[in-house]
Amino acid sequence: MRSLVRETVLHKEDLIYPLFIVEGEGVKKEVGSMPGVFHYSLDRLDEELNEIVSLGIKSIIVFGVPQHKDERGSSAYDESGVVQSTIAYVKEHYPEMTVIADTCLCQYTDHGHCGVIHDGDVLNDESLELLTQTAISQAKAGADIIAPSNMMDGFVSAIRGGLDEAGYTDVPIMSYAVKYASSFYGPFRDAAHSSPQFGDRKTYQMDPANRLEAIREAQSDYEEGADFLMVKPALAYLDIMREMKDRFPLPLVAYNVSGEYSMIKAAAMNGWVDEKSIVMEKLTSMKRAGADLIITYFAKDAARYLDEK
Ligand code: PBG
Repeated sequence: MRSLVRETVLHKEDLIYPLFIVEGEGVKKEVGSMPGVFHYSLDRLDEELNEIVSLGIKSIIVFGVPQHKDERGSSAYDESGVVQSTIAYVKEHYPEMTVIADTCLCQYTDHGHCGVIHDGDVLNDESLELLTQTAISQAKAGADIIAPSNMMDGFVSAIRGGLDEAGYTDVPIMSYAVKYASSFYGPFRDAAHSSPQFGDRKTYQMDPANRLEAIREAQSDYEEGADFLMVKPALAYLDIMREMKDRFPLPLVAYNVSGEYSMIKAAAMNGWVDEKSIVMEKLTSMKRAGADLIITYFAKDAARYLDEK
């Protein structure tokens, strides 16, 4: 009878699995702070992709971990860059997979910031140009969805304009609309080698104390033509998710970030919590709060748990 009256149900279709791709060959290396998450080089990615497909996961988001970093993050918009090659490979060999490209510069800049730096400050508009170039190169490689995460003002309209002009009018934008300056990103920065080398990201990512600012951020992205809105991180921001779902008629995405993953993994490895039930409780809470889709490092685990049922 409980299942008869259950209001919120998690489906495999809701899950988006993040992949970290490194340059080089023969690499499969576990990320130290994220047990069960691996860096792959493209030649070994089939292992991971076959598993994802066999578990019934239909979407991935791709993060590149390049060797070459410079001031202007040039590997981010290199047409034969690590993300572009990965997208092309996946679309050729796994055409049914929905491939989302994370569009940012921080993994590619030597200073680790998400934009161009001048005199210690991030330049908004100049960064938009590079971000747009990155998005176009990803669309050209075959990305199904562009997901800009650098939090520069006006990034949705800049990227929409750039994509349209380049002929990619049908490639949607999944905006990291509401992205907080969060300590929950710690393990990701370890995985993506993207820690800022000076300062922090508080001039472009949001203050965790703010709710009205989240509405303004989402409103502007909505008006600029975003096709999906994202709230990130997820767990400490379920109230914001509900707010977004009630206000904006767009698919809402929760990013269940690295720190949220690692905390549960660590506790489970110590035998302090029951991993399976806590993972399902947590993912269900995000859907209950209004998320339609969840980007999560637990996607494979959750798909297995759903099969067991
Ligand atoms: C950066 C980016 C970040 C994440 C994804 N893209 C965070 C950041 O360092 O600001 C974090 C994801 C995670 O913690 O799982 N553009």
